[in-house]
Amino acid sequence: MCGIFGYIGTRKNVPGLVFEGLKSLEYRGYDSWGLAAPDKNGKLRILKNTGKIGDSRVDSLPDNGMALGHTRWATHGGVTMENAHPHLDCSGRIALIHNGIIENYLEIKKELVKTGHRFRSETDTEVAVHLIEEIISKSEKKGLSRKVLFGRAVRQAFGKFSGLNAVIAMDAESEVFVAAKNGSPLIAGHGESHGENFLASDAHAILPYTRRLYFMEDGEIITLDRSGITVQNLADGQEKPVRFQQIDWKIEKEDKGKLPHFMLKEIFDQPKILLGIAASTEVTLPEFAKLIDNSYGTYLVGCGTAAYACLAGTYIFSKIAKKHVNFSVASEFSYLIDFLTPKSLVIGLSQSGETIDLLDSLKKARGKGVQVGALVNVLGSSLYRMADHKQLLHAGTEKAVVSTKAFTSKLAYLMMIAYLLKKDGVSGRKILETAGREAARVVSSAYRKKIQSLAENLSSAKDIYIIGRGVSYPVALEAALKIKEASYVHAEGFPAGELKHGVIALIEKNTPCIGFLPNDETYNDTLSGLIEMKSRGGLIIGISNKPHECFDIFLPVVDCGIASAIPNTVIAQLLGYYLAIQKGIDPDKPRNLAKSVTVK
Ligand code: G6P
Repeated sequence: MCGIFGYIGTRKNVPGLVFEGLKSLEYRGYDSWGLAAPDKNGKLRILKNTGKIGDSRVDSLPDNGMALGHTRWATHGGVTMENAHPHLDCSGRIALIHNGIIENYLEIKKELVKTGHRFRSETDTEVAVHLIEEIISKSEKKGLSRKVLFGRAVRQAFGKFSGLNAVIAMDAESEVFVAAKNGSPLIAGHGESHGENFLASDAHAILPYTRRLYFMEDGEIITLDRSGITVQNLADGQEKPVRFQQIDWKIEKEDKGKLPHFMLKEIFDQPKILLGIAASTEVTLPEFAKLIDNSYGTYLVGCGTAAYACLAGTYIFSKIAKKHVNFSVASEFSYLIDFLTPKSLVIGLSQSGETIDLLDSLKKARGKGVQVGALVNVLGSSLYRMADHKQLLHAGTEKAVVSTKAFTSKLAYLMMIAYLLKKDGVSGRKILETAGREAARVVSSAYRKKIQSLAENLSSAKDIYIIGRGVSYPVALEAALKIKEASYVHAEGFPAGELKHGVIALIEKNTPCIGFLPNDETYNDTLSGLIEMKSRGGLIIGISNKPHECFDIFLPVVDCGIASAIPNTVIAQLLGYYLAIQKGIDPDKPRNLAKSVTVK
């Protein structure tokens, strides 16, 4: 995680420009933020704070055509001013920001302390800047420029780190940025005017200024100053040609209009997206169906919400296409790859396309010769670029940290591909149209009032239990995740059949119990589970196409076949949202979370 933005050039108000860049990257982490800019004497000035960026001002920083900024998601060291990036060396001439984890930082720190370096933070990051300073001080100068010495020192220092990392170091003396990467994303931009160059952790932060981008590969080190950009291999220092890409992506307007939160706006976006997928004529869809058909083992992998979409995929392919596909949480997938062969297909599901656990496991799987597919929302993301076969989710920018529309788009695409595999695209379109219309009814103000009043009812609940079977089991998991993330209420989803194997011990008088009961073969057994919960005093909330006397609260959903999973999820999203509102929590940026998780 962590948002990174750096600029060098001749524009005015550079700290302000970097600050705007950081704001657009804040979804990557919002524990703290900070900027560094050089003064006229080549000394760096720093401005840092804990918490969200908000409407802070940065005009106290010197404006000399260069600045570097960072938004932090804390890994090592608490959320304090001292631990906020950028970190400075002892001389105050080098600033450094970092994304990743320097796993061997303690041993490096011990050596640096011995040689007299003074540490101000508890972070792993700070060792990097002192190590660069140390290497420069020990280097034979032999008439080499400070820029060359600095670049060499960054490369040497980076070579000593273990873990997956990206660092950007800025030298105020030679007015240069040097960045190295092995894991987390870094993108450079070359401006057409102003002798300017940019660095950021996400392309969209640079696109308002230039569309000439260079996507750094792992194992590269890049140097930027006003004269241009050079790239070298980290391993041997060999210079490489810089192959810029001219990006023609449309920049989407990120606007929630009059709505109070992006989460609500993104929930509202879903009916249109679903109808769009139902009408899709993209050739990539039958291609994916063919790939799955021909593969000798298909694996769906993802993290968080995307992982639940993958699990739903196993039921979707089994039910619709009678095809076995496997599922793994991406962070566990690396431990399951031993039996992969070049005939295997691994499909990564991801909103951001930047989740490191996913990228790392896909890289390891690729080592086994597998083909890699991607169902991904962000065009140009690391996953998009690494995949052999890709399908965009076309859900539009998702800003709220709590993922909503990316999940239902993933379900819709998985259903569409499964129907194409069955050679029955017509039925696929039909159920998605029904699900899209039903999602529209669920987000209507009349229906939302019911969910709002349910949220009021549940606002003092300590625990919420959610059950489902078949495809409604991953929906139950996703529902619990939405409630936890958005409202901090403990919620647990599980397969209804597992109830009697432990969880039922937790049901007391008035414990809220939610059951998903679509009109399928799971209905009767899930109902039995709810009745068992009711017998222990549970408050029963039934989400189904038909009422039942055991429901204390009934939320009706029109039967959409297997795609009932979609409107059912939308109900859970709204419940999570309104519970957050009840509790005064900002559902767009819940505590401790980040939208793009680029550390392990
Ligand atoms: C984070 C986000 C979740 C998301 C997960 C996977 O935890 O907060 O909303 O589901 O990462 O992200 P991805 O971008 O790979 O779908």
